[in-house]
Amino acid sequence: MKFYIATDHAGFEVKGFVIDYISSKGHEVIDLGPDSDDRVDYPDFAKKCANSVVSDKGSFGVLICGTGIGISIAANKIEGIRAGLCHDAFTASATRAHNNANILCFGQRVVGRGVIESMIDAFCETEFEGGRHTGRVEKIEGCSFGANL
Ligand code: RB5
Repeated sequence: MKFYIATDHAGFEVKGFVIDYISSKGHEVIDLGPDSDDRVDYPDFAKKCANSVVSDKGSFGVLICGTGIGISIAANKIEGIRAGLCHDAFTASATRAHNNANILCFGQRVVGRGVIESMIDAFCETEFEGGRHTGRVEKIEGCSFGANL
C-alpha cells in the first residue's frame, strides 16, 4: 500500500514512529510534513494529504493532530476523501470495512504507541466489505456534491 502522512504540531512527535512502523510492514510512506513541531494550522496539512490521496488513485493517508478531530473534519471537506477518526483496532478496521476510508486519522494526545500499531495493522489488513455499505458510501459522495454548491 502507498500512504501519504501529515500532521500538525500536536501530532508531529509521533510521526517518525508511524512512518517507521508503516515502512516496516513493507508499505511506502510519503511524508508531507511538517518538518518540526513549530505551531501550524491542521487544515493546511489535512488539505495537502487529502489532495495527494485523491490525485494518486488507490493510495491512502494518515493524518494526526492532537485529538484527530480537527484534521479529520478538514480532510473530509475534500471531495473523494473518507477520513475515519479512529481510537483503536476496532474502529480502524470498521472504517475500512464499512466506510471504505482512505485516510486513517487519530490523536497523538489520545492513543499510545501500542494502540497506534494495532490501528495501522487493522487499517491495512481490512478490505471494504461492499454490499450494503456501497450505497451508503455513494450517498456520502452525493452529500458533498450538493452541500458544496
Ligand atoms: C492543537 O492544539 C489542537 O487544537 C489540534 O491538534 C487538534 O487537536 C484540533 O482538533
